Order: sequence, then structure tokens, then C-alpha cells
Amino acid sequence: MENNLVQFYDAAVPRYTSYPTAPHFSPEVDNDIYRNWLQELDPAKPLSLYLHVPYCRQMCWYCGCHTKITAQDNPIKFYANALRSEIRMLIKALPTRFSVSHVHWGGGTPSILSSEDFISIMDLIDQNFDYTQDAERAIEIDPRTVDALKIEALAKGGVNRASLGIQDFNPVVQTAINRVQSFDVTKQAVENLRANGITHINFDLMYGLPLQSSDDVRRTVELSHSLQPDRIALFGYAHVPWMKSHMKMIQDGDLPGTVARVEHAKSAAEELIRLGYQQIGLDHFALPDDNMCKALVGNNLNRNFQGYTTDQSETLIGIGASSIGSLPQGYAQNIVSIHEYERQILNNEFAISKGIMINTEDKIRREVIERLMCDLTVDLDDILTKFGKPKSFFSEEISRLQSLEKVGLLVLKDNRVTVEEDVRFLVRNVCAVFDTYLGTGAGRYSRAI
Ligand SMILES: C[S@@+](CC[C@H](N)C(=O)[O-])C[C@H]1O[C@@H](n2cnc3c(N)ncnc32)[C@H](O)[C@@H]1O
Ligand code: SF4
Repeated sequence: MENNLVQFYDAAVPRYTSYPTAPHFSPEVDNDIYRNWLQELDPAKPLSLYLHVPYCRQMCWYCGCHTKITAQDNPIKFYANALRSEIRMLIKALPTRFSVSHVHWGGGTPSILSSEDFISIMDLIDQNFDYTQDAERAIEIDPRTVDALKIEALAKGGVNRASLGIQDFNPVVQTAINRVQSFDVTKQAVENLRANGITHINFDLMYGLPLQSSDDVRRTVELSHSLQPDRIALFGYAHVPWMKSHMKMIQDGDLPGTVARVEHAKSAAEELIRLGYQQIGLDHFALPDDNMCKALVGNNLNRNFQGYTTDQSETLIGIGASSIGSLPQGYAQNIVSIHEYERQILNNEFAISKGIMINTEDKIRREVIERLMCDLTVDLDDILTKFGKPKSFFSEEISRLQSLEKVGLLVLKDNRVTVEEDVRFLVRNVCAVFDTYLGTGAGRYSRAI
């Protein structure tokens, strides 16, 4: 790696799953504002639902998600009840019956819900919303905690895509991250999913993990490929022990440094491409006939809180503790504390604790950042024309882009910015040029790679 690029790989930058990013949310968005936003939604446009389940059976030391460990089933049952209540409240607050294009269950481990609770929540959604043609109903599952019966229930609930957490297949790395998961356990989950008609399968892999080598990442990629998932997400471990104290269980000395991380990411990407996957944006790979590849080719790929998505809906409604909704007027996040969330919902109140209203300038910058994150290229003039702004709008950004062009991060031609292929992992550093909130106090991010 060229020395002049190390500073960019080391730089702390947001993941840009939203713009403005979550650290800039404030209590300016509350339940009343959220209710108004819901009322103003255009019934002609479909929406999407994100349901968050913040429970797992065991803590993975690397985990950056909003989750809590429980050995009991009762708290999960109680939480499922709150989810149903929030959905009923949502149905009442919407101006009419809507179509839904995507339902995404995330976590934590949403497959931890009992089969009965999962099916009853999906039934509630089915009864009160219509689905668009080809609607996606996706769930994140932990292969260690799903048996054949649970997978049968997911299929019965209408799931047609599953993401499986894997990370790395080497038992040494698995021990260092407190997540021991044999290849056979993963294989069994994949076979059960396919046997139940859930044929769209994603794998989550990670690089930059403790005691992990480049060979481990490549081997994990090869073993993953033998199970033929349609999509693979390859996430760089974001080590943020100041935010997640369990990450302190990972010894700093066991973590690969910047140069090794770049090597992990690049060699895994090379291997995935060799095996027939197409690289998408920062961290995704998909087989050519997967609809994420088609979305990329058709310039329809989008980015939301779950990362890259083929979902075209302008509105994503967040349901559950800590979930974030993205509405045309702005972002709204539910209370993170499970207990507080449940208290509020069971009191018949929404549980919005913060968010941000977005103005036209935010929308312009968001579109630039989203196009860069998805396509690695953006025509600034096209976006400025769309929003009726003069070319001079980005004059300050242009001069910063020119500096990045000199060090080989991008090409700037006729106001089109294109991130260079060999530095695609630095796309977030290019996005940061357009982020006017960066450096305004809030937020401390993980590094670029
Ligand atoms: C909600 S989990 C997936 C479902 C299930 N809980 C499981 O782990 O099998 C989402 C994914 O986020 C990724 N992830 C979690 N913490 C991360 C971190 N600190 N940095 C980067 N990726 C992370 C992992 O790849 C993980 O599989
Ligand atoms: S990675 Fe998945 S299973 Fe592990 S603690 Fe996080 S959410 Fe739970």
C-alpha cells in the first residue's frame, strides 16, 4: 500500500447508512412530530418496515449492534408483545392502508422470537398491509440458534431472504471473538432454509478480527462459496470499545493493523470476484443473477440503515427498541433502552426519542453521498440541476476533491466524481467531503477500513 494512503485508511469516518448520520440526531423529533410525519405520507407510495429484536443468547465480543443477552424466553415474549402493540399503533396512525415493498427483521437475533410470536407478527402485518409484487421479507439469523422447526416457522411467516451471521470459520478466530460456530452448523442452517423454500441467502463475513490472518479470510470466503450464498457482506470490524464495553474483551494487540486490514479486505475481494461474485459498493458481493447486481447495473441500488438495499421505497418505518425510521421529512429513532421502549409502547405512546428533520441542503448532500456509496461515481451537476441549485453550490467541495484527486483517491472530470477502483474501500473518505456535520462535535467513528 502506498504510504500516502495510510492516513486515509486510518481516518475515522461514518459508515453513511444515513445522512445526516445518527450521532447528529437530537430530541427535536418526538412522538408528535412523528405522528404528523406518518399522517403526511403519500398513500400512493409503498413503504418498508424494519423490525428490531435486541436479544441474543451469547455476546460476540466484536458486536456493534443494539442487543442484550438473555438466557430466558420471558423477556423475548414480553418484547414481542410490545412489537405487536407498536405495529397496531402504527396502523392507526397511518392515513390509510399502505403497500409494503420490504420487511426486514434485524437485530440482535430476530430468529430468537418463538415461532408463534414470529408468525403472529407477520400475520398482523399481512392483515393490515398489502405487499408490492416481489416484496422482500428478510430476516437476520444466527445459524447457531435456529433448528429445522424454527426455519419452517420463518417460511410459514413468509420469509423469502435470510442473512446468516458467520464472520470467520477458523476456530482460533472464533474463540477470540466468543462465537464458536462450526461449518456444519452453518451448512445445516443453509440446507434447512433451502428445504423450506427460502432460497435467497446472504452471508455476513468480517475481516480485521483478532488473531485473523489474510489466509483465514480467504479460507472463510472459499468455505462460504461452497454453500453458494447469493450475497456476501464483508464487513471490516469496527472496534469502538468506548461505545461497546464488551469489545474490551478483545485485546488490542491481537487486532490486525491498518496495512493488514487493507490486505484482508483486498485479498478477500479478489477471491470473491474470482469465484464469480460482483463487488458492490464498499462491502457487498453478489452473484450476477441476484437482484442486488441487477439494481447496481440499473442504477437502482440504495443505502439504508441495513447497508446496501434493492428497496426503492422512500419511507422506512422503524419498529422496536433503537430502530431508526427514514421518512421523507427526516429520521426518527426509537428509545434504545428495551425497558423504556416497552414502558412507553405499552402505555399506548410511540417511543421516539430523537431524530433529525432534513432540509433541502441535507437532501442534496444525502443524494451525492448515497450515489457515491452505491455506484462509486456521481455526477454533481445532475444532482444540482435536479434540486435547482447553481454549479457554484459545491465550489468548496470541488477544491477539496481536487486535493484528493492529486493523491489518487478519485477522478474529477466535468463535475463527475469517480472513486478509483483500487481505493474503493476509501469511498467513505470521499463522501466525507460532502458532510457538513462532520467535526461539529457529535460522533466518534471507527476507521475507514
Ligand atoms: C445483527 S448481526 C447478524 C445476525 C445475528 N445476530 C448473527 O450474528 O448471526 C449483523 C452483522 O453485523 C456485523 N457486525 C456486528 N458487529 C460489527 C462490528 N463491530 N463491525 C463490523 N461488523 C459488525 C456482523 O457481520 C453481523 O453478522
Ligand atoms: S453479532 Fe449477532 S449474535 Fe453476536 S451479539 Fe451481535 S447481534 Fe448477537
